[in-house]
Amino acid sequence: MAKAGYDILYPPQEDAINAGVLDGKNLVLASPTASGKTLVAELAVLKSVLQKGGKALYLTPLRALASEKYEDFQKYSEIEKSPGRKVRVAITSGDYDSSDIYLANYDVIISTNEKADSLLRHRSPWIADVTVVVADEIHLITEADRGPTLEVVLTRLLKINPHIQIIALSATIKNAKEIGEWLQAIPITTDWRPVPLREGVYYNGQIQFKDGLSRIIPHADSNPIFDTALDAIREGGQVLIFAETRRLAVEMGKKAGALLRRSLPRPDRRGLENIAQRILSTGERTRLGEVLAEQALNAVAFHHAGLPGSHRKIVEEAFKAGRLKILSATPTLAAGVNLPARTVIISSYERYEAGYGRYPISVLEYKQFCGRAGRPRYDKFGEAILIARTEDEQDYLLKNYALAEPERIWSKLGAEKVLRPHVLATIATRFATTEGGLNSFFAKTFYAFQYDPKMIKGKLGDILAFLHREQMVELEGEELKATRFGRRVSELYIDPVSAVILRDGLYTRAKHVTEVSFLHLISRTPDIAPKLYPRRGEDEMLDLFAKEHQDEYMCEVPEYYGDTNGITFEEFLAEIKCARVLYEWINETSEDGILEVHKVEPGDILRMVDTSRWLLHATYQLAELFGHKDLLNQAYELQVRVAKGVKSELVPLVELEGVGRVRARSLFNAGYRNLDDLKGASVTDLLNVPLIGPSLAKKIKEQVGGLIKAEEWEALKSKDTETSEQSLLTDYKEDDSV
Ligand SMILES: Nc1ncnc2c1ncn2[C@@H]1O[C@H](COP(=O)(O)OP(=O)(O)OP(=O)(O)O)[C@@H](O)[C@H]1O
Ligand SMILES: [Mg+2]
Repeated sequence: MAKAGYDILYPPQEDAINAGVLDGKNLVLASPTASGKTLVAELAVLKSVLQKGGKALYLTPLRALASEKYEDFQKYSEIEKSPGRKVRVAITSGDYDSSDIYLANYDVIISTNEKADSLLRHRSPWIADVTVVVADEIHLITEADRGPTLEVVLTRLLKINPHIQIIALSATIKNAKEIGEWLQAIPITTDWRPVPLREGVYYNGQIQFKDGLSRIIPHADSNPIFDTALDAIREGGQVLIFAETRRLAVEMGKKAGALLRRSLPRPDRRGLENIAQRILSTGERTRLGEVLAEQALNAVAFHHAGLPGSHRKIVEEAFKAGRLKILSATPTLAAGVNLPARTVIISSYERYEAGYGRYPISVLEYKQFCGRAGRPRYDKFGEAILIARTEDEQDYLLKNYALAEPERIWSKLGAEKVLRPHVLATIATRFATTEGGLNSFFAKTFYAFQYDPKMIKGKLGDILAFLHREQMVELEGEELKATRFGRRVSELYIDPVSAVILRDGLYTRAKHVTEVSFLHLISRTPDIAPKLYPRRGEDEMLDLFAKEHQDEYMCEVPEYYGDTNGITFEEFLAEIKCARVLYEWINETSEDGILEVHKVEPGDILRMVDTSRWLLHATYQLAELFGHKDLLNQAYELQVRVAKGVKSELVPLVELEGVGRVRARSLFNAGYRNLDDLKGASVTDLLNVPLIGPSLAKKIKEQVGGLIKAEEWEALKSKDTETSEQSLLTDYKEDDSV
């Protein structure tokens, strides 16, 4: 407690301790945002590590959260576990094709759910030593695309060590008891919050709160969102506006800034100019960064996953310090970092999904937004406001959100697409060696617990048939075994369907195998993300690109629009669109240029780079497995090029730390084409290259070798250090999508 720096326990923390969490009892703690759930996990982890010599695995859904927890746990790394041996804390995320053996030496391991899944697939030996596992934000089980991973990871950990202690932390949900029964854990549900919350709905100049009170909001703008925000700021609060999309988050920031500019007192401006300056001098200069800096001048900012991690950090710090008054953010912030504000405005209670249309958000999601309202120690209460356009809508929102209870959590493991990779992994890791064993493993999942084990059995049969047909799994008598191909696919952490596409493509070849061949091949797999769809008017341009490269596809190309082929051709163009964005990226089109021409969202390139780099790694590995030696060099080089966004000629240069696509181009244009050229250069030479400052020049010399003269060294030391170029990738490592 003292180490954690708190005087007294919050009530949910007391409840958890009374329930025996420090005596090794399993626990499901469902309690509102910011009610102090982390400390419960921290204390149980310490107890296990210090008193029983145990090992802890802390699971979080997001990379950003993993970093936050890692920092939280640092304060315990000074404690001695045994004489002379301090508690060791590690964080692992990213690379899914590794078993991270070194983690055996650590006591507390923080991981994303996906990374933990991949470690299980690599059969990391230390996992058997884990004594306590924390499943943070376990309500995520209900999310269709990522929930099943967490569910399977927990099922598997329980199978490896049935006595493992499980501590599941969740936002308030309806069926904590049911999850508790599944995990054989004591359920605790609380409504307690550190700062009281007032929930209300705005309509026509007035906020109606759920407790019956109301408040008049003065009219200053045509948009009620900003009226509400300005009112809160006048009262001395800060405002968090949740926007539906990244684009809207940026736009709302812009409008809010214009309104605030008129009312800002002078002394604030200095600090704001500082913040804007920091944004501009960090990372590659992009238009998005400029827009952010402009907004910061008006004490406003936006926050979404398309921002580089460094910019997000600046914004978060400035908001926490109270310098920024309004933050306009996408929903990821609600489930992400701890960034509260007096007033939370939920600008829309609807979401849009392509092919599905508009639908209302869940009460669970709404409550998570609300959870960000109220800063402990600063605010006496927090406010969460929905915006209604009609009186009926106001009634509807009060009834269905403010006064409603959050939904039940449902397992989403039943879909064949999500089940498939987990079935393969279960066989490949020898968790199940017969069909009966497979059935009984999946009978232990939450899905089987909630529905009926029989329901999953039929699906398992279909998937087995597919894996057998595609030679990922073979049957010897009763015994189920993964083939080498199957094992590798499981470890590579890709969908078995993607693996089939890659394998077949590598055999099919193309008349000319070029970079487009590979980029198109990976764009065909279900693992490519995000999926990009051609916009109106874009077909022609894509069709042209497709024709220019017609001899380069590692698959059959569907006919042009016909009655029967219309749909497949449309899909083909979507693949071409992904391939084309990547093609421009590796041919050094600027980020802004790509965004403009292809109308993709700012974060899309980042995600695309990450997923396609991964798929190219898988392509390389499969090419090796199937003996396509002649394709290996090409596939390898392309991996580097996609990771860094450069043409071939820059590959040697971007391998240097601190040198990204922009600075590598600058060095190349100045005549430095490889490491030898750089070795021959003096620091002064390097300083003459545009965009190369003293600290980078020094860093380059340290890496390539070669002499630095003493007087140059002295001169260097006296200069200011500048921030180094950040590639999209290093930023992405701390991004909040996995
Ligand atoms: N006993 C305590 N006394 C004072 N502050 C505390 C106490 N316990 C936790 N806190 C603080 O409360 C804040 C929120 O805690 P925490 O991050 O654990 O919330 P949470 O319940 O996990 O919420 P979320 O749903 O957002 O994950 C943290 O800043 C933490 O430092
Ligand atoms: Mg938490």
